[in-house]
Amino acid sequence: MAAAAGRARSRRGMAAAAGSPRLPAWCGPLRGLLLAVLAAGSCHGNSVERKIYIPLNKTAPCVRLLNATHQIGCQSSISGDTGVIHVVEKEEDLNWVLADGPHPPYMILLDGNLFNRKVLMQLKGTSRVSGLAVSIAKPNPPQGFSPGLKCPNDGFGVYSKDYGPQYAHCNTTVWNPLGSGISYEDFDFPIFLLEDANETQVIKQCYQDHNVPRDGSGPEYPLCAMQLFSHMHAVTSTVTCMRRNSIQNTFSINPETVCDPLLDYNVWSTLQPINSSGKVDREKEVIIVATRIDSHSFFWNIAPGAESAVSSFVTHLAAAEALHKASDVHLLQRNVMFTFFQGETFDYIGSSRMVYDMEKDKFPLRLDNIHSFVELNQVALRNGSVLWMHTDPVSWMNESVQIQVRNLLDILSNSSVGANVTLREVGYSQPLPPSSFQRFLRARHIPGVVLTDHQAAFQNRYYQSMYDTPENIRMQYPEGLSPEETLEYVTDTAKSLAEVATVVARALYRLAGGANNTSAIQADPKTVTRMLYGFLIKMNNSWFQSIIKPDLKGILGDVPQHYVAVSSPVNTTYLVQYVLANLTGTVVNLTKEECLNPEKAPNTEKELYDYAWVQGSLDPNSTTRVPYCVRSTVHLTKALSPAFELRQWGSTEYSTWTESRWKEIRARIFLVASKELERPATAAPGKGTKAPGVTSHPSSQPCKTWAPDPHAQDR
Ligand SMILES: *[C@@H]1O[C@H](CO)[C@@H](O)[C@H](O)[C@H]1NC(C)=O
Ligand SMILES: *[C@@H]1O[C@H](CO)[C@@H](O)[C@H](O)[C@H]1NC(C)=O
Ligand SMILES: *[C@@H]1O[C@H](CO)[C@@H](O)[C@H](O)[C@H]1NC(C)=O
Ligand SMILES: *[C@@H]1O[C@H](CO)[C@@H](O)[C@H](O)[C@H]1NC(C)=O
Ligand SMILES: *[C@@H]1O[C@H](CO)[C@@H](O)[C@H](O)[C@H]1NC(C)=O
Ligand SMILES: *[C@@H]1O[C@H](CO)[C@@H](O)[C@H](O)[C@H]1NC(C)=O
Ligand SMILES: *[C@@H]1O[C@H](CO)[C@@H](O)[C@H](O)[C@H]1NC(C)=O
Ligand SMILES: *[C@@H]1O[C@H](CO)[C@@H](O)[C@H](O)[C@H]1NC(C)=O
Ligand SMILES: *[C@@H]1O[C@H](CO)[C@@H](O)[C@H](O)[C@H]1NC(C)=O
Ligand SMILES: *[C@@H]1O[C@H](CO)[C@@H](O)[C@H](O)[C@H]1NC(C)=O
Ligand SMILES: *[C@@H]1O[C@H](CO)[C@@H](O)[C@H](O)[C@H]1NC(C)=O
Ligand SMILES: *[C@@H]1O[C@H](CO)[C@@H](O)[C@H](O)[C@H]1NC(C)=O
Repeated sequence: MAAAAGRARSRRGMAAAAGSPRLPAWCGPLRGLLLAVLAAGSCHGNSVERKIYIPLNKTAPCVRLLNATHQIGCQSSISGDTGVIHVVEKEEDLNWVLADGPHPPYMILLDGNLFNRKVLMQLKGTSRVSGLAVSIAKPNPPQGFSPGLKCPNDGFGVYSKDYGPQYAHCNTTVWNPLGSGISYEDFDFPIFLLEDANETQVIKQCYQDHNVPRDGSGPEYPLCAMQLFSHMHAVTSTVTCMRRNSIQNTFSINPETVCDPLLDYNVWSTLQPINSSGKVDREKEVIIVATRIDSHSFFWNIAPGAESAVSSFVTHLAAAEALHKASDVHLLQRNVMFTFFQGETFDYIGSSRMVYDMEKDKFPLRLDNIHSFVELNQVALRNGSVLWMHTDPVSWMNESVQIQVRNLLDILSNSSVGANVTLREVGYSQPLPPSSFQRFLRARHIPGVVLTDHQAAFQNRYYQSMYDTPENIRMQYPEGLSPEETLEYVTDTAKSLAEVATVVARALYRLAGGANNTSAIQADPKTVTRMLYGFLIKMNNSWFQSIIKPDLKGILGDVPQHYVAVSSPVNTTYLVQYVLANLTGTVVNLTKEECLNPEKAPNTEKELYDYAWVQGSLDPNSTTRVPYCVRSTVHLTKALSPAFELRQWGSTEYSTWTESRWKEIRARIFLVASKELERPATAAPGKGTKAPGVTSHPSSQPCKTWAPDPHAQDR
C-alpha cells in the first residue's frame, strides 16, 4: 500500500477549492480541508491510495546565493522535503518540535514575530525539522527586523587596512545594529514565506483539524503535512559553481549552468547631453548624483525597499526633474550626471562596475572628470527636519580635498534656506555609511557627501527586509480612494521627500556654477507622490502605462519588488529608465519610424540623445492610446561585477555574488495516513499541481541565459 501511495492522484479536491480558502465539508469527519482520503472506507468511493494536495499559491522561497568563499540561503532535497505541520506561535511551542513531538521531522509554520536568529539557529541544529513556512507579522514586528548584516557590504567599501583602518569593519559605527545576519546564513532545509494570510489560515486550519496534540499524547494519523520544493543546483561557492559552468559550457553537448552572476543595468543621464559613443573632454567637470535602486530580503524577489532604496531614488528623480526645468541649465559651466546603481546590496555591483568602466576607458566619462559626488541614501525617516551630511574623515586630512568638501557642505547648507530641511554635519570622526560613493573614493580622492536621515545607526528598523514597506516610511492615504485617486493623492511623505529634492536640486545648480537665484527651482510633490505609489504600491498604474514602450507593458505587475536580476533588466531598472526620461526628456515631433530609427531622420543627433516611442495616455472615453516620441539623455550600462569580466571568481576586490539555478519551486499541503506515507512518491508530481505562485516568479529562471548586452542597440 505504501508503495502505491501517491501514484494515482486526484486533483478533484483542489478544483473544488478553487478560489476559496475554505473547502466544502463534503467528507464527513475530516471537516473542512484536504479530504485526502487515505484510510480505506473513511470516505466512500475513494481509492485507498488517493492523496489530494493543496498547492500553496502565494509563497516566496529562500534560495541559495554564493560568493567567493561561501554559500548562503536555503534548499530542499531534490524531491522536496516533507514533514508533519506544527504551528509555532510562541517560543514554548518549539519544545514539541525539538523534543516532545512523536512525528518528526516537522514542517514548522512559524509566526513572523518568531522569525529571528535565536529560533533559526536552534532549528539549524536539529534533524527534527524538515522545513519552515513563515507567516508575515502584522503589524510589523515592533522590535524591528533586519535579516541583513550589522555592517553591510563590509570589506567592499573604502575602509581597509590601507585606508582609514580604524574605521574598517564598522569599528566606529555599527550602521545596522538590528541586523541579525540570517540572510547570510546557510540552511540545509527549505524556508518559504507565506505571502497571503488566507493561505496561512488554510494551513492552520488543517493543523487544527488533524495535528493538535490532545490529552498530552500525540495526535493520531491522518496528519496534515507540508512539502516544500526548492532544490538548488549550485553548491559551495562562486569559484566552484563558475568553474563547473565553464567546464559544462566547454565540454558538454547540453550545457547545464548551475549558477548565474547577479547582473543588471545601471541607469544614468546627464543634464547637458554628452556624446555617449565618444569621450568627454578632459577639462569638462561633472557632478555625480547617485542612489541605489535595489534592495533585498531573506526571500527571493521580496524586496520592497521603501526606505532602503525607493525613498532615495524617488527623491533623486524629483531633483533631476526640478533641475532640468531651470531656465538656464544649458549655460551651466559644469554638467550633472544622474546615476542609479543596481546590485549595490551585493557588495556594490553597479558602482564598482561603473568605476571599473571609467578606469578602463569604457565609459564616456573618466574619473578625472568628476568634480564632486552627492549621494542620497535612506532619506524618508528624518527626525523632524534634520538631514545629515556624511563625509569621509580621511578626505579631511587632504588639504585640497578638504577645501572642496567644505565648499560642498556650505553649498548644501545654503540651499536649504527656506526649505523645511535642516542640514547637519556628522562629526569628522565618523566614517561614511555604506554607500556607492565609497567605491569611487577607493579609486580617487573625490570630494563627496552622503545625505541620510540617520546620524549614526540607521533610522530604518526594517533594513533589507520584507517589512521595509510603504508603512515603514509612513505613507498614508485616506480611506476609499480609487487607484487613480491614490496615484495622485499627495501624502506627507511625498511632501517631505520633495523638500529634500528641492534642496538637492538647488545645491546641484550652484555646484554646477549657476549664479542666479534658485527660488524657482522646486521639486514637485505631485511627481514624488506618483513615483512613491508606482514604485511601492502598484506599478500597473496609468502614469507608468503611459510612459513606457508598448513592448514593455508586461513588466507592470502589482506590488513592486526591487531585487537585482541575473540577466535582462528587472522591472525596476526599466521603470527608473522611463520615469527619468519622462521627467527630464522632451516630447519631439517624430513619426514612429523616425523615433525607432533616429539615425535615418535629420537633426536627431543620435549620439547625444536616446529616443523612445512610448505608449502615451488613453484617449478620454476610448481604449486607444496616443503614442509619442520622447528624447532624453537616459542610458543603461551593464551592472555586472568586474570579477566576472576578469574571471576572478575568488575576488576580494569586487563582488562575487551569484544565484544558484533551480528547476522547481513550489509548496503544498496534504494529509498523510501513516508514517510510511509521509514521503509522497516522487513520481509525476503532476503539472497541474504547479502552483501559480511559481509562475509568478519568472518561470524562465532555470533557463535564463547569460547573454550579451541586450541593450547594445539602445545606446
Ligand atoms: C491554490 O490554488 C488552487 C487552484 O486555484 C486552489 O485549489 C487551492 O486551494 C489554492 N491554495 C490555497 C492554500 O488556497
Ligand atoms: C576601533 O576604534 C577605536 C576608537 O575609535 C580605536 O581606538 C581602535 O584602535 C579601533 N580598532 C581598530 C582595530 O582599528
Ligand atoms: C561571503 O559571504 C560570507 C557570508 O556572508 C562571508 O562570511 C564571507 O566573508 C564572504 N566572502 C567574501 C570573500 O566576501
Ligand atoms: C482573504 O479572505 C477574505 C475573506 O474571505 C477576503 O475578503 C480577502 O480578500 C482575502 N484576501 C486575499 C489576499 O485573498
Ligand atoms: C561622437 O563621438 C564619435 C566617436 O568619437 C564621433 O565619431 C562622433 O562624431 C561624435 N558625435 C558628435 C555629435 O559629436
Ligand atoms: C530626534 O531628535 C530629538 C531632538 O533633537 C532627540 O531628542 C531624539 O532622540 C531624536 N530621535 C531619534 C530617533 O533620533
Ligand atoms: C517640516 O517637516 C517636518 C518633518 O517632515 C514636519 O513635521 C513639519 O510639519 C514640517 N513643517 C512645515 C512648516 O512644513
Ligand atoms: C541667469 O539667468 C539669465 C536669464 O534667465 C541668464 O541670461 C544668465 O546667463 C543666467 N546666469 C547664470 C550664471 O546662469
Ligand atoms: C516583472 O516583469 C515580469 C515580466 O518581465 C512580470 O512577469 C512580473 O510580474 C513583473 N514583476 C512584478 C513584481 O510586477
Ligand atoms: C511625461 O508624462 C506625462 C504624463 O503621462 C505626459 O503628460 C508628459 O508629456 C510626459 N513627458 C515626457 C517628456 O515624456
Ligand atoms: C509634426 O510634424 C508633422 C510632419 O512632420 C507636421 O505636419 C506637424 O505640424 C508637426 N506638429 C507639430 C506640433 O509641430
Ligand atoms: C467622456 O464621457 C463622458 C460621459 O460619458 C462625457 O461627459 C465626456 O464629455 C466625454 N469626454 C470626451 C472628451 O468625449
